[in-house]
Amino acid sequence: MCGIVGILGTHPVSGDLVDALRRLEYRGYDSAGIATVENGHLGRRRAEGKLRNLEQRIAEDPLKGLTGIGHTRWATHGKPTETNAHPHMSERVSVVHNGIIENFRALREDLKAKGHVFDSDTDTEAVVHLITEEFNRRGDPVAAVKAALPQLEGAFALGIIFAGHDDLMIAARRGSPLAIGHGEDAMYLGSDAIALAPFTSEITYLEEGDMAVLRRLGAEIFDAAGQPVKRTAVKSQASSLLVDKGNHRHFMAKEIHEQPEVISHTLAHYIDMAEGKVNFPDLGIDLSALSRVTISACGTAYYAGLVGKYWIERYARVAVEVDVASEMRYREPPLPENGLALFISQSGETADTLAVLRYCKEQGQRIASIVNVRTSSIARESDVVLQTLAGPEIGVASTKAFTCQLAALASLALALGRARGTISAELEQELVKGLLEVPRHIAEMVADERPYEKLAHDLSKARDVLYLGRGINFPLALEGALKLKEISYIHAEGYAAGELKHGPIALIDENVPVIVVAPEDGLSEKTVSNVQEVAARGGQIVLISNGKPDAAGCELLAHIKVPDAHAFTNPLLYAIPVQLIAYHTAVFMGTDVDQPRNLAKSVTVE
Ligand code: AGP
Repeated sequence: MCGIVGILGTHPVSGDLVDALRRLEYRGYDSAGIATVENGHLGRRRAEGKLRNLEQRIAEDPLKGLTGIGHTRWATHGKPTETNAHPHMSERVSVVHNGIIENFRALREDLKAKGHVFDSDTDTEAVVHLITEEFNRRGDPVAAVKAALPQLEGAFALGIIFAGHDDLMIAARRGSPLAIGHGEDAMYLGSDAIALAPFTSEITYLEEGDMAVLRRLGAEIFDAAGQPVKRTAVKSQASSLLVDKGNHRHFMAKEIHEQPEVISHTLAHYIDMAEGKVNFPDLGIDLSALSRVTISACGTAYYAGLVGKYWIERYARVAVEVDVASEMRYREPPLPENGLALFISQSGETADTLAVLRYCKEQGQRIASIVNVRTSSIARESDVVLQTLAGPEIGVASTKAFTCQLAALASLALALGRARGTISAELEQELVKGLLEVPRHIAEMVADERPYEKLAHDLSKARDVLYLGRGINFPLALEGALKLKEISYIHAEGYAAGELKHGPIALIDENVPVIVVAPEDGLSEKTVSNVQEVAARGGQIVLISNGKPDAAGCELLAHIKVPDAHAFTNPLLYAIPVQLIAYHTAVFMGTDVDQPRNLAKSVTVE
């Protein structure tokens, strides 16, 4: 969940390192640092908190050198302090690291006994002293790293520089992403292509277990067995324009407002607009014999998977199992012949999701992934990649990626239905027509945010908030609760409305707003009775529906009106109010909307 960068440059690198770190801040932002080789010596500047604090530190005490590494941190081991910020270093070696070294304590004790002095609480510092120990023993940096890597247990992406070696940087990857950039008499290293976009678009992605020896004239890559290997360079699509907020106050606001456009792009990718029917990539499996779809993801992507389950089971009549990746990876469920395993991930780098993908591949499943980053690890390890065309999503709280995931899932459900003969051509055309109206409806919904600004004031006083939904709206209740808690820090829970009487109703009093996602579909009467049960106990109700407020039969704290649309498309439309409720409540609370505390955009550690 950290961002790492390295430059073997032709001019002083500290400014470029910081610029690259700014493009990686979404991966973690609790501290940052850079280190360079200058006149044969290692120099370092680090700062706690946001990148601007590091910039200040460097302005006060500049760092020269044409070779350097940088890091923006999401703390795993050791508090987010300057002492624990990367790069870590000894006199001879400096390292930046993304991942978790699981045997760091044993290494630390062994290295301390050999006289190494530690000054941080991090797992990464054990890597520094292990490589230093091997360097002292062998006198050669490459041999030292080759000897050290097998002693590490756990996940890492490493960038390593050495005192006295101005034309050398070593990189290594196991379980965390790492890319090499090829420049003019310069070489680059980064957690992803976005960081390297201003320097080069020629990118080589290291594979699992790879180690790379970078010099200005090129890179030598060794595979997990230590054998020299060629990895092809690709042209990166990452834009060199640093994504900016436009005229929005936050990236999240911008990304909420981009949804009509990016959902259109995603739908156009899967639907033949002229024919009014899905035009889906070949999944490479006999769909008529498809036995089961297994979906695994994390967080918001998992909730998208839950929505997908309702659609696929209803329209393609095939059983769907959905589970959070952190559970499925250790549950190791038995999987059937002719099964499709589908992974949903905005970043394409979520460690738990990638782990389940590898398990399902071992179990002979056909692997498909719905990702927003085409060059990500999950995409590269899939048989079929189903892209969301949401564009870079910078806000940590996922919004446009979620609705684009839904657009892809809805299209997949129809493709499976047609292939399996479980939907007629007429029904397919009707449902596709409904999908094609979604961008227009969402544009209408994001045009007026005033109801949310008022509601935010009421919700900001809440101790807890309950979200309720029934049927395909239940995952939207879960998503709404996640959005609210992750950016406003107010505790919120999503519940199946039918579960209310099985416990959560005990929570209800005038201090617990209840947000009910209830389009007027076949289940709304039942949900209305839940609403009245809440009202009867003094609960404050926010009803999100396409009906009239008085349909609730009780007083409401607020009614959020959603346009009438085809019921098939409700999950896409009802995502908007729960996003805007969370956004405006967080703004009212004054939290860091785009970079909420303790979170990072891409969870590349388990
Ligand atoms: C969503 O708002 C959160 N930021 C988080 O739950 C996220 O959806 C989850 O970490 C999965 O990330 P991914 O889609 O990149 O795999």
